This record gives sequence, C-alpha cells and structure tokens, in this order.
Amino acid sequence: SGHDMWGGRFASGPSSVMEAINTSVHIDKRLAEQDIDGSLAHAAMLAACGIISSEDAEQIAAGLEAIRQDIRAGCFDWKPSLEDVHMNIEAALKERIGAPAGRLHTARSRNDQVATDFRLWLRAACERAIEGLRAYQRALVEKAEAHFDWVMPGFTHLQTAQPVSLGHHLLCWVEAAERDIGRFEDASRRLNESPLGAAALAGTAFAIDREMTARRLGFDRPMANSLDAVSARDFALEALSAATIASVNLSRFAEEIVLWTSRRFGFARLTDAFSTGSSIMPQKRNPDAAELVRAKPGRIAGALQGLILVCKGLPLAYSKDLQEDKALVFTAFDDLELALAAMAGMAADISFDRDVLEAAAGEAYSDATDLADWLVRELGLPFREAHHVSGSIVKAAEKKGLPLSKLPLDEMQAVEPRITKDVFEVLSARASMESRTSQGGTSPVRVKEQIAVWKDRLKG
Ligand code: ARG
Repeated sequence: SGHDMWGGRFASGPSSVMEAINTSVHIDKRLAEQDIDGSLAHAAMLAACGIISSEDAEQIAAGLEAIRQDIRAGCFDWKPSLEDVHMNIEAALKERIGAPAGRLHTARSRNDQVATDFRLWLRAACERAIEGLRAYQRALVEKAEAHFDWVMPGFTHLQTAQPVSLGHHLLCWVEAAERDIGRFEDASRRLNESPLGAAALAGTAFAIDREMTARRLGFDRPMANSLDAVSARDFALEALSAATIASVNLSRFAEEIVLWTSRRFGFARLTDAFSTGSSIMPQKRNPDAAELVRAKPGRIAGALQGLILVCKGLPLAYSKDLQEDKALVFTAFDDLELALAAMAGMAADISFDRDVLEAAAGEAYSDATDLADWLVRELGLPFREAHHVSGSIVKAAEKKGLPLSKLPLDEMQAVEPRITKDVFEVLSARASMESRTSQGGTSPVRVKEQIAVWKDRLKG
C-alpha cells in the first residue's frame, strides 16, 4: 500500500483523493513492454559495470520476462495504490524474486525511466502511423490507377473551375500522406536518444555505461544533458504535431467523401460496409466513418494543445505535471490509427459514377480557360485580353442557356471576329483535361507516369 513504497519517511498512506489524483497506472500500463525492455537493459548494464552481481541481474531478467508473460496473458494484477506502471512492475518483481529486485533501481529514477519508456513507445507509434499511411497510400494509388483518365470537375472555392482527372485528384492525397510520413520519420529520428541514466535529474555517482543501455534499446545515443533527459517533452509535442497535421489532411479527403456521396453531387458511393442507416429515415445511407475522420482533428489537435499547455512554463526538471502527457498522446495516436484504417478502407471501398463526373466536369463553363488559351495560342492575343474575350463569350452563352460547345460560331465571332470553328476542338471537359500536360498537370499521360512512380515507391 501507499506509504510502503516510500519507505521510512512515511508513517501513513495517502488520502483516497490523493491516491485518485496521483495514480496513473490505468493509463501508463500501456508502457509495460517498454518499461520491461528498459529495465532489462538497465539491469544488464549494472551487472556489466560491476554495480550489481550477474546472479542478481539474471534473476531480475528472468523475473521481468515472467512478468511480461503475465501482462501479455492479461493475468497481471495492476494496483492503483502502486501509482504507476513502474512501481507495479517493480513490486511484482519483488514478490517474484525477493531481495535482488531491490537492486534494479540503483542509479535510476522513475524520471529517466518514464522518459525512456515514453520515447520507446512513441518511436513504435510513429512506425505504426507510417505503416497506416502507407496502407492508405496503396489504396489510393490503386483507385487512382483504375480512374487515371476519368474526368471530373476540379474546384476552387468549391465552385467548378477546370476539369481534372479523378486519378490526379486521388494522387494529391497520396502526396500529402508522403509528407505526413516524412514528419513522423523526422519526429522519430529526433526523439531517438536515451534518457536512461540521467536518474532523477543530475546523473548518478555510480559508474554506469549509458552508451550500452542506449545501444541495447535501439537509441542513437544517450541524451547529453541529464536535466534535459528527464524534463523534455518536446519530442511528444513534435509527434503530436505530426499526428495533428496528418489528421487534418485525412479530414479534408473525408470531407470530399461526404460531399461526393451526397445526392447533390452524386459523384461516388460507399458500399454497405462503409455506410450507416438512419433509425427513422429508411432511405438513408450516411457516411458516418468519413464524418468521424473529418472530426478527428478536433480530438488530435486538442491533445496537442493540451500537452502544449501542460508543458508551458514548467521549470526544470521533472514535475508531476508531466504525468499528464501520456493520456493525451495515447488517445491521439489511437484516434489517428483508426482514422487511417477507416480512410484506407473507404479509399478502397468507394466507387464512382463516370457519367455524373463527366457531365459535372463540363458544366458551369469549366472550359472558359481553354477558350482563352486558344485565343492566345491561335490568334496571338495577350492572355489578359483573351480572358476578357472569353468572359464576354461566356456571358453571351449564359444568356442563351448554352454551354460554350453549343454556342453558334457567329455568336462568338460577334465578340471576336477571328475565331474559327477549330475552337470547338478545345471545348470539352475531356479535351481540357487531356491538354494539361505540363509537369505535375492533370493530363492522363502525366497521371499515368505518376502512378508508375508511386507503384514503384510503394512496392514491397
Ligand atoms: N508516473 C510518473 C509519470 O508518468 C513517473 C515519474 C514519477 N516521478 C516522480 N518523481 N514522481 O510521470
């Protein structure tokens, strides 16, 4: 119970509210694997440096592995009164192997221990996020390949702008996901230094080998400053920033799925696997998963904001405020993983209506730029003038309720006499899309190249 943990200094245990506010094991038990890995590395190092006997180190290792099995099997008895994952495991070790357990905490504090565990956990979480992003990219690239030359309206201000290829649109989210991956890689690389051996805040008088524990735990090096090692949480802020930005990118495509599957757009459909019904309106097919992904930045950016405010103004070195870091990071990464799985699922599930897309692509004078470009190319007009002429022709067409492609040539010639019937060759959504062959442009020839690049990058 409570006061036994602190030994001689304490005569009685905490009040129930003290225990309630202080305990974190219900949350930080998720660090159990990392905590055991850290302790195994620490014990082996203590023995190698002659600080504890190798017999004790062996018993500690065997005991910790047995505890790991109990935890994995779900038969470990977590006790809130023992505060956190570290004290729970240490107490269990004592129960299991007796006296040698008491030597494990030599030259170590929970302050460097928790920082070590948390960095290991986040390194793995960044890895999982990257894998989730890769799966999402694969689903998108596959969809893009199947629709590389389907024409759809491209929007600016959500107003019909110019025709684009559906494959091109989908590849846009593949690019965004690649930058998200880069951010997780950066965060993961920067956090990969070992706090272990910083002890409570000042280092230790024992002749430990921090390189050894760092190496064993897969860290690039020990952290150089013991105060920094126990008090820095910017690594968690950085990982949460990466998660926040990734969730914002996901939410944007999620919003498009919501729009596209609405009756007003009618561009796309999700199967029953990714649709929900209504308890009152029998006809409904709702895109709940897309809406929930759209909402995730509320939670994930909220976690980032939460941890920023926890860390703000904290003096060196460790303060208990820092215990609040884990719940925020865990929920944010859980949310992100689920959002990624849902988006990969929907990217694979979604199907498109070719005719609706093509018709919409040709609506609302989306070929007005093509007309202006034709005037520049064929008649040598300066673009600004061509823009004006094209605008006047759109106005005339709009008055008659006709698309540009159906406007009689003489009506165009009334605005610009040098226009010839050849202009009609550029006045269709498909011609417009196919003409945009500049690097990074939407022409299917370019999209096909990009799909090949992505398939190559994503293989294996
Ligand atoms: N449970 C604590 C945390 O998550 C571990 C470190 C506690 N250190 C201390 N000096 N009380 O931050």
